[in-house]
Amino acid sequence: MKVLDYSNIPVTEVVPEASSMIESFRSVGYNLETAVADIIDNSISANAKNIYVNSVWLGSDSYITILDDGFGLNREQLIEAMRPGSKNPLESRSDKDLGRFGLGLKTASFSQCRRMTVLSKSDGYNPVYLTWDLDFVGQSGKWHLLNYCPEEFINALDNMKSGTMIIWTNMDRIVPQNTIESDKKAHDKFMLQMENVQKHLSMTFHRFIEDKDFVLHCWDSPVKPWNPFLITESAIQGFSTQSLGDGAVVKGYVLPHKDKISEETYRFAEGSKGWNEQQGFYVYREKRLLLAGDWLGLGRPRFRKEEHAKLARIQIDIPNKLDAEWQIDIKKSTARPPQRCADALEAYAKLVRSRAVEVYRHRGKVVQAQPGSKFQPLWQEKKKGDKWYFIVNREHSLVSEIKKMAISDPDKAIDILLKFVEETIPTKASFIKESEEAEKQAQPFEGVNKDLLVSMIKAIAETQSLEGRSKEQIKFMLLNMEPFVRFPELVQSILE
Ligand SMILES: Nc1ncnc2c1ncn2[C@@H]1O[C@H](COP(=O)(O)OP(=O)(O)O)[C@@H](O)[C@H]1O
Ligand SMILES: [Mg+2]
Repeated sequence: MKVLDYSNIPVTEVVPEASSMIESFRSVGYNLETAVADIIDNSISANAKNIYVNSVWLGSDSYITILDDGFGLNREQLIEAMRPGSKNPLESRSDKDLGRFGLGLKTASFSQCRRMTVLSKSDGYNPVYLTWDLDFVGQSGKWHLLNYCPEEFINALDNMKSGTMIIWTNMDRIVPQNTIESDKKAHDKFMLQMENVQKHLSMTFHRFIEDKDFVLHCWDSPVKPWNPFLITESAIQGFSTQSLGDGAVVKGYVLPHKDKISEETYRFAEGSKGWNEQQGFYVYREKRLLLAGDWLGLGRPRFRKEEHAKLARIQIDIPNKLDAEWQIDIKKSTARPPQRCADALEAYAKLVRSRAVEVYRHRGKVVQAQPGSKFQPLWQEKKKGDKWYFIVNREHSLVSEIKKMAISDPDKAIDILLKFVEETIPTKASFIKESEEAEKQAQPFEGVNKDLLVSMIKAIAETQSLEGRSKEQIKFMLLNMEPFVRFPELVQSILE
C-alpha cells in the first residue's frame, strides 16, 4: 500500500450525525439473549463474583436490570464507558477481557431498549450514574448523556463496596408500546423471553459457573450450568484433543445414545434448540461460548444438521488474541475458522460425525457375534462401482432352512421368508445412506442381469394367459405392477 504523508494534506472534519448514528446501533443484530450475554461479559471482565439478572413486568414500563459486584467505575471512568467505541479494538487486552470493540454496552442495550442507565460504584467513591436516551439524542441531535437515574434505583448500590447496575427501560423491542400490565398474552410472551434468556446464559457461561468463577442469579435463583458435552456420563465418547495452531484446540465428543442415559438427562442435553440443532461445533473464546451447534460451513459436501449425526458435538477453544482471524463479530455470536485450519477441522469433524452415526445406528452397542461363532447379518450393504445397495444374505442359515421347508410346505416357506424380510428391512441404515449419498443409490435391478426379469415376465404372462387373459390385458397389468412398471420396453418387447 502506498504510504501517504498526512502532514502535507489539508483535512475536513466530519462528525457522525448523532441521532441517526445512535439509532443505527440498534441493528447490529443482537437478540435479547445475546444482548444480555454481552452485558454480562462486562461484569466478568470487572471481576464480578455475583451477577444478578432481573426483570419486572409492568406492561410497556417493564424493565430489565443486570447488577454485578465487580470493581465498578468512578464518574470519569463511567463517562468513558458510555462513549461509543470506548477502547481501540486493535489494542491488546488482558487474557480475561471479554470485551473487544468498546461498543457492547451501548449496542447490546440499544438493540433492546431506548433508554439505558448505568449506575456504578467504585470502591471508595460515591455511586455515579448516567443515561443514554435515544429519544433525547433524537431531539437534541447531540451526543449528550443525561445525568439521570430512575428514582427507584438510585440507592441500589449503597450497601455494596463496589458494583455496577445496567438498567434497561423503554424496552420497545421486547414489549410493544402501550401494552398494559394486565395484558395476559403480552405477559406470557415476556416471561417466555425471560426463560430463553436464562437458558442461553446457562449455556453461554457454563464453564464459568462450573468453575465457580461467579454465581449467576436469574430472578433471584442461582443458574445451573448447561454443559453441551454431558461429560459426567460414562457412555460419552471423547476424542483426543488436537491443536489448530496459535493456541486454538479442538476436542470432539459423541454423546451417548438415548438408550444409555436417563430420560431426564436426555431431555436436559437437548438444550434450548433441540437435539438436532445442537449438533456441531461449539466455539469458545477463553471460557465464553460464542457459537453453539454450527458446522461452520465445513464439509464436502457440506455437513448438514442431520438426525443421524445429532450425537456429535465438538468443542473448539480459541484465545482472544485470535479474534480478528476467527472473524469474531461485535455481538460475539458468530465466528469463522481461518482458512489455514479449515481442512484440519473438517477432517476431525468427519471422524467424530462418523462415530456419532455408528452410535446412533447401533444404539451405542456394537453388534457383535458370540465368541467362537460368526455373525450372520440378514441384510448386507454392497457397493458396485460407486453405487450402493442392500441385498439379502443368501448364505444365511435361515434361507437354507426355508428352502428345505419349501419342499413340503411352499406357502408357509414363502410367507416366513417374506415376514423375515419385512421385519428386518434395514430402514435406518438406508435412511443414513440416503441422506449422505442419495445420488449414489442404485435403482431397482440396476446392474442386475435382465434375464431374471425376462423369465419372470414370461412366467406371469403364461399363467395369466392360461387363465384366459388377452395379451393386451396382461401387458396392461404388468405395466402397472412393481417392478415391471420401470421396464416398459422390456414388457412391450416380450409381449409383442
Ligand atoms: N459491569 C461493568 N463493570 C465495570 N466496568 C464496566 C462494566 N460494563 C462496562 N464497563 C466499562 O465500560 C467499557 C465499555 O464497555 P463495552 O461498551 O461493553 O465495550 P468493551 O466491553 O468492548 O470494552 C468497558 O471497557 C469497561 O471499562
Ligand atoms: Mg463489553
